[in-house]
Amino acid sequence: MKDRLTTLLTRIAAANEAYHAKDAPIMSDADYDALRREVADLLAANPELGDPTELEQVGAPPASGFAKITHIVPMLSLDNVFSPEDFAEFCARIRRFLGLDTSPLHFVAEPKIDGLSISLTYEHHKFTHAATRGDGTQGEDVTRNLLTMDCFPRKLPPNAPSRIEIRGEVYMTKHDFLALNESQTRQFANPRNAAAGSLRQLDAGITAQRKLSLFAYAQGDATSPVAATHWAYLQTLKDWGFDVNPLSQRISETGAAVFQASIGQARATLPYDIDGVVYKIDDIALQTRLGFVGRAPRWAIAWKFPAERATTMLEDIEIQVGRTGALTPRAKLTPVNVGGVLVQYATLHNEDEIARKDFCPGDVVELQRAGDVIPQLIRVVTPGPRHHPFAFPTHCPVCASLAVRDSDEAVRRCTGGLTCPAQIIERLIHFCSRGAFDIEGMGDKTVQEFYEAGLLKSAPDVFKLPSHEAEIATREGWGKLSAANLTAAIEARRSIALPRFIFALGIRRIGENNAKLLARHYGSYANWRTNMQAATEIGSDARLELGSISGVGPTIATDLAAFFAEPHNIATLDELAGLLTITDAPTAATSTSPLAGKTIVFTGTLSMARPEAKARAEALGAKVTESVSKKTDYVVVGEDAGSKAKKAIELGLVILTEAQFREMAELV
Ligand code: IVH
Repeated sequence: MKDRLTTLLTRIAAANEAYHAKDAPIMSDADYDALRREVADLLAANPELGDPTELEQVGAPPASGFAKITHIVPMLSLDNVFSPEDFAEFCARIRRFLGLDTSPLHFVAEPKIDGLSISLTYEHHKFTHAATRGDGTQGEDVTRNLLTMDCFPRKLPPNAPSRIEIRGEVYMTKHDFLALNESQTRQFANPRNAAAGSLRQLDAGITAQRKLSLFAYAQGDATSPVAATHWAYLQTLKDWGFDVNPLSQRISETGAAVFQASIGQARATLPYDIDGVVYKIDDIALQTRLGFVGRAPRWAIAWKFPAERATTMLEDIEIQVGRTGALTPRAKLTPVNVGGVLVQYATLHNEDEIARKDFCPGDVVELQRAGDVIPQLIRVVTPGPRHHPFAFPTHCPVCASLAVRDSDEAVRRCTGGLTCPAQIIERLIHFCSRGAFDIEGMGDKTVQEFYEAGLLKSAPDVFKLPSHEAEIATREGWGKLSAANLTAAIEARRSIALPRFIFALGIRRIGENNAKLLARHYGSYANWRTNMQAATEIGSDARLELGSISGVGPTIATDLAAFFAEPHNIATLDELAGLLTITDAPTAATSTSPLAGKTIVFTGTLSMARPEAKARAEALGAKVTESVSKKTDYVVVGEDAGSKAKKAIELGLVILTEAQFREMAELV
C-alpha cells in the first residue's frame, strides 16, 4: 500500500513539475485527476499513511511550483502600535516629519483583515494577473487560483487607468472555515491558514472548491492617479465592483481611540477574523511626502488588539538543545484553544524566567498568543499539588555533557560541542537551510535520518551524499527519482557566494548580517580564512582589524577567533573549500537585497561619496542611472536635491532619504 502511494506521489510530483515549472505537460488532465483521486481514496481508506496535504507537498512544494512575479512597487508591511500612547506618538512623528502644527490629522480607519495580501493587475481594463506578497519584492503567480473566485471584477470601466494594480486581502469567513474543517480530515488552525492553504494551491481545482473572499484596500502601481484621497480611492474601487470593508470610516486623529474600541467590541460578531485596525493618512499627496521607513509606510499604522489569553495546565518543561548548544526550555501544555488556535507548546525564554515566575510542572498557568508570535507563558494561576522550584538541568539532556552558564549570560550551554548529537544535527540543519546552502529536500527530518544512518556526520558529508545516491534510493520512503532529485539539489549548490558560506558555518553570533559584513570586508574566501586564523592571536593586527569592522565589534571577534582556534573547524573548512566553489562578492543574481533588480537614481548631496553609494547599490544587484523616469524604482535624495526629486514626486516614485537607503543597503 505504502509502495503504491509512493509511486503515485512520485508520478504526481513529476507531472506537477512538468506542468508548472517546465510548461510541458507529460500527461492528460484526466490521467492527472485519476492519479490524484487514487491517492485521495488510498488515504481515506488508510489514514495512517499520512496527511493528504502534507504528503502532496513532499512531491511539489508550492513555493517552487509557482511562477514568480516581481512587484513593480514593493508590497510592504505595517508597523504596529498597541496603545493610545503609541498611536499618539505615531501621529506626532508624522507631524514632526511634515513640520506641521498640532492640528489633528485625518485618517481612513479600516479593520485589519486576518488573511493574506494579494495584488491584482489590470491592463487595458482587463484582469491579467494576481500575485501573493511573497517576500515583498517577488510574489507567487496565483492568477489561475484567483480566476476560480467570483468576488472581484474581471474588467474595469474605460475611465480606469490603462494599467493599474489593486491590492487587498484574500480571506475566508469564519463560517466557510468551520464548514471546510468539518468537511475534511485535514484541520486548518484558523481561517487565515485556511485561506492561504486554499489560495496557494498548484492545483487551482482545489482553490475552486474553497470559498474565499476579498477586500480591496490599497494601491499598487498605476499609469495615472485614481483619486486624491484614500477615501475617494475606496469609493472608486466599490464603483468598479470590488468589496470594500463596510466598517471603514473617515476619522480624525482624536476619534481613533473610540473607533478602535467600537471595532474591538464588534470583533467577535464579525463574520471574519480581524486583528486590529489600520489607520491610513487620507490625503494621498501627504502619503507620498511621508514615504516609507524600512519596510513600512510612514503614513499608516496597524493598531493591534491586545493578545489573546487562556489558562491551562503546564504538563512538563522540556529542554531542547540548539545549534550552539543552548539549552532552551519550552512548556508542554494540556492543549488549549486560544482565540481559535489549539496551543500545545509555549516558550519559556530561559532559566531565569522560569525561576522568576516560579513555573513548575503541574501548575495551572496563564498564556497569551499575540498574532503569529509563539505563545508565551505569563504567570502561575494556581500552583500544582507538588509545586517546587524547578531545577534547571546542569547536564545536556541529549549527550549528558556538563551544561554551563557564563556569569554574564542568560543561557546555559552544553559543553559537548561536536560530540553532542543534538548540536551536530542542528548545525547540519542550519547548514542546509534557506539562508545558508538552501538545499531543497534537506530539511530537518532528512538531516536527522541521514545522521542516524551514518551517512551524514559533518558538513562536508552533505556534498558526498551524491556518491551514495544508489543507497539512498533503496531507503524506506525514498526511490530512484527522489534520490536523483536530492543529488541534483546538492549539485546545484556546489557553488556558493561567500556571505552565504560564512553564514552556513553556524558560528556563534554570525547571522546573515554579520556574514555579509565579513564577506564584504575580506572579499574572498582565501583572504577571510587567512585573516581569521591570524586573528586568533589576541592583540594581533588581524584581531584589531576584525574588531574594528563597523558592526562587528570585539565580542563577535572573540567568537570568530574561538571558532578558528579549533583545529577541527579548520579541517572542516578546508575540506569544504575543496568540495565547493566559493564566489567572491555577492553578485546581482545571488543578491537577496531589497535593492536587487531595482533601478536607482541618486540626487542631491549625500554624506557618503557618490561613487561609493553607486558601487554599493550595484554590488547588491541594483542598476544606477542618471535620469528619473517611470522605470525608476527608487530615488535617493540628498541635500539640495532639485529637478530630479521634483520629477520623482510628480511621477509618484518611491523616494528614499539617505538614511533609508543606507538601511536598505545595510550600511548602517
Ligand atoms: S494596507 C503599505 N490595509 O496587514 C500598506 N493592510 O501587517 C499596505 N492588512 O501585508 C497594507 N488589512 O496583508 C492594509 N485594511 C488593510 C489591511 C491590511 C489587512 C494586512 C496586509 C499587510 C499586513 C501588514
